[in-house]
Amino acid sequence: MSTLDSVATVVHVLVGGLWIGGVVFVALAVLPLGRDADVDPQPLETVVDRLLTLSRFAAVVMLASGAHVLYHVTLGGEVSTEPLTSSGRGHLILTMVVLWLGVTATVEIGASKLFDGLDAGKLREPTRAALPWFRAAAVLGIGVLTVGGMLSAGVGF
Ligand code: HEM
Repeated sequence: MSTLDSVATVVHVLVGGLWIGGVVFVALAVLPLGRDADVDPQPLETVVDRLLTLSRFAAVVMLASGAHVLYHVTLGGEVSTEPLTSSGRGHLILTMVVLWLGVTATVEIGASKLFDGLDAGKLREPTRAALPWFRAAAVLGIGVLTVGGMLSAGVGF
């Protein structure tokens, strides 16, 4: 493994952990405050806006670092779909990509539902509408970290 491959792997795991950690924290600890009207709309909007920025940045970094590791490490520098479709390891990687897409999409939808309502001067109603999307993002995120942990443990090799 080259130094660049090692850096890509470390970045992949680090950014993934920070991203999903942020999503889980907002879903479990921050949004319930808005649902119960225990926080003002402005700080709630700021927190979720920062999470959205983190989420967009992380989504791009995860795709780029994941594609690097896939090509240079998993596939050994060869362009081939066969190892992805014919092995447990490949299936886990494909599952990771699908879950990554799911986390990205659910955070975007949840944030958009929240911002639409906050812009209209509401708090409880948009937070209630956004919560299931952020909970789904948290579950999908825990799923993708679990898949990463399985790959790290050598499952499917
Ligand atoms: C939320 C998004 C993601 C998270 C949290 C995540 C997390 C992880 C973790 C923890 C590992 C184990 C690292 C190791 O021990 O080597 C891993 C491996 C990997 N990930 Fe991801 N990942 C995500 C998205 C992606 C995406 C979008 C791609 C593809 C474009 C990808 C491709 C890979 C590959 C190729 C490996 C190495 C598999 C192997 O051992 O051959 N990941 N990921």
